[in-house]
Amino acid sequence: MASAPAPVPEKWRRPVRQRSRLIRRTGPAHSRVEFAHPSEQEFARFLDYYRIRWVYEPVSFPIAWEGERVAEMFTPDFYLPEHDLYLELTTMKQSLVTPKNRKLRRMRELYPDVNVRLLYRKDYHQLLSQAGYGVLEAQHLKQEDIGEILISPVELETRVRALAARITRDYRGRSVVLVGVLKGVTFFLADLARQIKVPFVLDYLDVKRMGGAAPRDRVRIARDIDYPIAGRHVLLVEDIVNTGLTLDYVMSELRERNPSSIEVVTLLDRPTRRLVDVPVKYVGFQIPNDYIVGYGLDYRELYRNLPFICALKPRVYEIEIRPADLAGDAQ
Ligand code: PRP
Repeated sequence: MASAPAPVPEKWRRPVRQRSRLIRRTGPAHSRVEFAHPSEQEFARFLDYYRIRWVYEPVSFPIAWEGERVAEMFTPDFYLPEHDLYLELTTMKQSLVTPKNRKLRRMRELYPDVNVRLLYRKDYHQLLSQAGYGVLEAQHLKQEDIGEILISPVELETRVRALAARITRDYRGRSVVLVGVLKGVTFFLADLARQIKVPFVLDYLDVKRMGGAAPRDRVRIARDIDYPIAGRHVLLVEDIVNTGLTLDYVMSELRERNPSSIEVVTLLDRPTRRLVDVPVKYVGFQIPNDYIVGYGLDYRELYRNLPFICALKPRVYEIEIRPADLAGDAQ
């Protein structure tokens, strides 16, 4: 019977940084790195598509020693910093899986705090759900209808947390009236408000768009706020600012009620569409001109429940457009 290996001193258990595999400075991340195997590049392309950040083989973990000299190391293929997770890709070939499993077991014994996983092809979906993506089919959006994922669930979460921290700092010692402009804002507002640490009142208003001749005649308040805002600090919460017409109108209406201050936070800003200048103090992301959906934003009321923000392929919305359809779509 083999005797138990001698305990390895703590100071020997040090990951060894690997040289950078960067071979290009431009292009998508998966095209900038030199991979040992094409399947790794394929996996990196998959991570890029879902905007999951990765580093290729950043470190090696010593797992066996001869005397004080390192005799064997294990180098996981990928590290996902947003999930603090190392991944080793594997094929179904039993001859390769068995030694990998042995190395992995040893690594887990020696580095119990390091999160490492062996990933089979069938595990990709599990990885996606861990990264905050629901199964797309369940949300009625076919993968081939998505142009590009522009903002991942982790990026949304990180940015919303940062916005809430800034708002909390700026309003310290005061309370605020958060006014959400319906309906796209619901997901953003819920996540933002949960992380704001100053006292607040929550209220909503809804606007109606009409076909008025002058731009300023094209919006009206359809549902007003309940709360009197005179002498209060108001923070208008929007999901997206395009032309700025909605905000410009809403702000001028609310200003007449004499709030102490009125500021705007928007998750998304599309400055290329701006027609009127509006003061937006807090911006989550600037985005391009594509038709976007997800995290509250819709296409004909669909796709609000996607956990990320993506562009729709034009073929989804470039169907026959009848004049009657043009009324209510702000995008
Ligand atoms: C969006 C958004 C803003 C407005 C911005 O609403 O919530 O209110 O468009 O566009 P603008 O800057 O050009 O005025 P949308 O009509 O999509 O309604 P919804 O939020 O109810 O989906």
